[in-house]
Amino acid sequence: MPDLGAIVHEIAAEMRNHPEKGTVADYIPALATVPADRFGIAVVMADGPCHMAGDAQEAFSIQSISKVFALTMALGAVGDALWQRVGREPSGSAFNSIVQLESEHGIPRNPFINAGAIVVSDILLGRYEPREAIGEMLRFVRALAGDDSIVVDEEVARGEQETGYRNMALANYMRAFGNIHHPVEKVLGLYFHQCALAMNCRQLAMAGRYLMARGRNPDTGRSVVSPQRARRINALMLTCGHYDGSGEFAFRTGLPGKSGVGGGILAIAPGVASIAVWSPGLNARGNSLAGTLALERLVQHTGWSVFEPGLGQDQSQSQGSASE
Ligand code: DON
Repeated sequence: MPDLGAIVHEIAAEMRNHPEKGTVADYIPALATVPADRFGIAVVMADGPCHMAGDAQEAFSIQSISKVFALTMALGAVGDALWQRVGREPSGSAFNSIVQLESEHGIPRNPFINAGAIVVSDILLGRYEPREAIGEMLRFVRALAGDDSIVVDEEVARGEQETGYRNMALANYMRAFGNIHHPVEKVLGLYFHQCALAMNCRQLAMAGRYLMARGRNPDTGRSVVSPQRARRINALMLTCGHYDGSGEFAFRTGLPGKSGVGGGILAIAPGVASIAVWSPGLNARGNSLAGTLALERLVQHTGWSVFEPGLGQDQSQSQGSASE
């Protein structure tokens, strides 16, 4: 078994000194002021231990990573009927693109682009009132992470509400096609609040454990989703979790991952580990630059790609080399 404690510290040191930091998102006012030099990593193992380094305990805006938790809740609410309103294909377009919606009749390509996540919010409003839905999501994420201190950052939510013209356009456009059923303001209110969840790397990696553990919450042993649904959410993260950078992310890490414009990434090594990294500087596709590199390094050290035969069985046999 590789020495994970040493590996995460080595990765954090490399990322701190990395010359390229990327660009911090500034279209959401509260995100623009986050220092670009932050870097955190947390690796929660299937058998319990959590290895952390850098700023792993500093909260950041999880943004689009919340789309994984919202999708999980919506599938719980309506099951596979969700797929009549949202596709399962990579978009090959930017996360906030509107172009495909016209020719595809208001059906977003997947639940992780903004348009898809807005439909997922609309689906949740079929079950809950807006305030109740935000409360349910918070309860859900807290239960997954085993941590009641997780909160929604109201300043981030307000900032998005005030500047989210593209999301308003997406929601209104889909409403015109009949794929948004509730008032756009309510749907976006929920969407902006879920994106404004503030979590640190440790909390995020803990919350992702059900995706590593065949759908079970390791704290309670209770099923969050079926093993099949956990596999399918992981498959969507692998193919769609980084928008038009999903192929590159899969090529470099071989792991299901979901990025957020706050600079976080949740990555899953099924059966082995739930991993969260955070570095606010983004690459051209809106995904964390150093976060992606850190995950690439982690896989080089551990061999934890889903394309590694026997992942989750004998890790001592599957270490990659740094020159891969
Ligand atoms: O709707 C938005 O634009 C943001 N709340 C979320 C976008 C996001 O995180 C894209 N990720 N890389």
